[in-house]
Amino acid sequence: MSWETERLAFRYVVKRKLSPEKAFKEAVRRTEKKGDLRAFLKFLRDYYYLSVAYPGRGFEELFELSLKGNYPFVPPRWVEERARRKLSPRKPYWLRVNTLKVSLEEAKKELRELGIEFEEDEDFPFMLRLEAKPELKGLKPFQEGRVVPQDKSAAFVVSALDPKEGELIFDIGSAPGMKASLIQQLRENRGEIVAVDLSAKRVEDERKVLRWLGVKNVELIVADGAHLPFRKLTKVLVDAPCSNSGTYVEDPSVFLRVTPRDLRRLSRIQKGILKEVMGLRPEKVVYSVCSLFPDEGEDVIRAVVKGGKEVDTRRLYPDTNGTDGFFIAVVRPQ
Ligand SMILES: C[S@@+](CC[C@H](N)C(=O)[O-])C[C@H]1O[C@@H](n2cnc3c(N)ncnc32)[C@H](O)[C@@H]1O
Repeated sequence: MSWETERLAFRYVVKRKLSPEKAFKEAVRRTEKKGDLRAFLKFLRDYYYLSVAYPGRGFEELFELSLKGNYPFVPPRWVEERARRKLSPRKPYWLRVNTLKVSLEEAKKELRELGIEFEEDEDFPFMLRLEAKPELKGLKPFQEGRVVPQDKSAAFVVSALDPKEGELIFDIGSAPGMKASLIQQLRENRGEIVAVDLSAKRVEDERKVLRWLGVKNVELIVADGAHLPFRKLTKVLVDAPCSNSGTYVEDPSVFLRVTPRDLRRLSRIQKGILKEVMGLRPEKVVYSVCSLFPDEGEDVIRAVVKGGKEVDTRRLYPDTNGTDGFFIAVVRPQ
């Protein structure tokens, strides 16, 4: 086997920063050869592991090693297992019951009747834990917005915001509206959200998502979070654009695509948005990023949030929380 498709797909991931699936599809199209997507995903995982274990070795050597699974040095089994668990732990798949459309009991009954097995979550009753991603396409409760795929990390973020009936909430970096829809679910649409996003295209998607999920009272605004058209803010969620490195279990290519330069650029954007928000005298801010890097989390808070504020931070990890990797900070005036 020549692995021509896999090699090309790898180049697309690193150079063009395509997602593994897109890169692979494009490589299959270009080479007109079949290739093996599963082998490619395994390669991405192994490649990262090997490049950490053997810094300085070239791509070709690491490529061969990871395909053969024949490493020149085999660390003690327990060392390898621990390292592997951190780098590619198992993580459940989460579905949220959208109680704007259905009761919890009805949704669970419907899923069971469809043969979908799940466990109830201890922290959030509306989150259901599945072993693996189900086929969502033809699934009626999904099509009709009664259940929606959403990582449990979102529930931690929104519960940190603690949305209450009647409150005006600003959601900066809102599209495609998944957290906004959970905010409205928790208070049964009773209260307004002003949802801001820089991308007009993503705001259009958000409009569709909100309609699909029966979400009301959301005003959508296309604007730059670093230059907000408001005089004063109340409760604010800043779900900032980020490296998405917290999704490393599902997307083994993140460490190949994200460079220190990307992190510097993202960190600048994150600081710009948070600085603007803090300057508009908010009553409470929840800042969140789906990232493993302090550059996008702790460092942003440290650089922007100055004295006289109460700050609580927490990190979520796949192997400890069963979620994507996330950083969440709650900031309040003292
Ligand atoms: C992590 S995503 C938000 C996900 C969303 N909160 C949800 O739960 O569905 C970050 C969003 O920030 C937006 N964004 C990027 N730069 C921005 C800026 N300068 N101001 C406002 N939004 C921005 C992106 O378009 C993207 O939709």
